[in-house]
Amino acid sequence: MPVPFAKSALLLSLLLVMSGPHAASTPASPEATPAYAQGIPLPAVIAHRGASFDAPESTAPAYMLARDLGADYLEMDLQRSKDGVLFALHDNSLLRTTDVAKKFPERKNSPASAFTLAELKTLDAGSWFNQAYPERARPSYVGLQILTLDEIIDIAQGNPQLKPGLYIETKEPQQFPGLEHDLKNQLSARGWLKPAASTSGNAQPQTGEGKGRVMLQTFDKNSLALLQQEMPDTPKILLLWVGEGGMAPDNTVSFANSGEKDKAAYYARQQPKDKAEFIRWLDIAKSNGAIGTGPSAALAHGGDQSYFDLIKPWMNKATHDRGLLVHVYTLDQAVDFKAAMNAGVDGIFTNRASELLSFYQRPLPRSVNQLLEQNGY
Ligand code: G3P
Ligand code: CA
Repeated sequence: MPVPFAKSALLLSLLLVMSGPHAASTPASPEATPAYAQGIPLPAVIAHRGASFDAPESTAPAYMLARDLGADYLEMDLQRSKDGVLFALHDNSLLRTTDVAKKFPERKNSPASAFTLAELKTLDAGSWFNQAYPERARPSYVGLQILTLDEIIDIAQGNPQLKPGLYIETKEPQQFPGLEHDLKNQLSARGWLKPAASTSGNAQPQTGEGKGRVMLQTFDKNSLALLQQEMPDTPKILLLWVGEGGMAPDNTVSFANSGEKDKAAYYARQQPKDKAEFIRWLDIAKSNGAIGTGPSAALAHGGDQSYFDLIKPWMNKATHDRGLLVHVYTLDQAVDFKAAMNAGVDGIFTNRASELLSFYQRPLPRSVNQLLEQNGY
């Protein structure tokens, strides 16, 4: 079963009691949070491109595993095919996660959106994972397909006991005029813009029941405004970034000219120009209908997911003070989960849903291996 909001709020309270002086950056009671009334779990476990540590990102085994582990949300990056079908893929290009270079050598550098759905469906979106991560490789990952939004909704609805929500990012939305409208139509056609009937009998909605069964996210403030126009009742998050398209940085020295060898170290030193610039973006979020922000974090051990530290306690406090919640991206290790919770975040995007659920002491129904095998992988 999904963890009831009240139970996850209790767990959060316990974590905060244990977490020291920075806990003051989190609202005093769960009822005071913007998450509460909309049924957004607190803290929220957001499975980033599915359980993408254990299975190829944005594919069926990754989303099925995240669902069956009990993640609150299945996260996806939304794009539109040449023939108008909404599908999930993070990169603009197909090169990293498919065999496009083999199947369409002349078009290998074209954006994914230049391919029809039928063409996208011919691609192998699983084998790259086996090569990149031999220790987690499975023969069954060979030949996995790119998924449409419709197929991910089928997966979200596919386990009668576990009903994760959807956490949908409009990816590079300037490439896709009308994407927000298309998304509204499709969610509406599938019944996902109405709160689902409560199965728990609780007054407080659980994950997958209240308005917060769908969360919308974007880095693009124009797309946020369009999402608000199309789906005013659906909770939205403005993702935060320092640099082009985001907050003005405190210095404009590029990575190449910084003398820094490690990109994570470079990002960790970058910060918003000043406090007012950070707060200006909170105001942009709120005035365009967001109920929260999605900041990056600098990770304890660096790596290619380590970006700007935008979850400093004062930042989270300023966000909470404006009635907004904080869902940080993308953390996979306990040391980072702990630091983020101590700093006062309200939810975490993770590739390792199993690790984050365990960190929150939420029981896993079965092991990762057992669940993958149960689903035929
Ligand atoms: O959507 C939150 C996080 O996913 C943003 O980063 O690049 O992984 O989409 P990205
Ligand atoms: Ca994303």
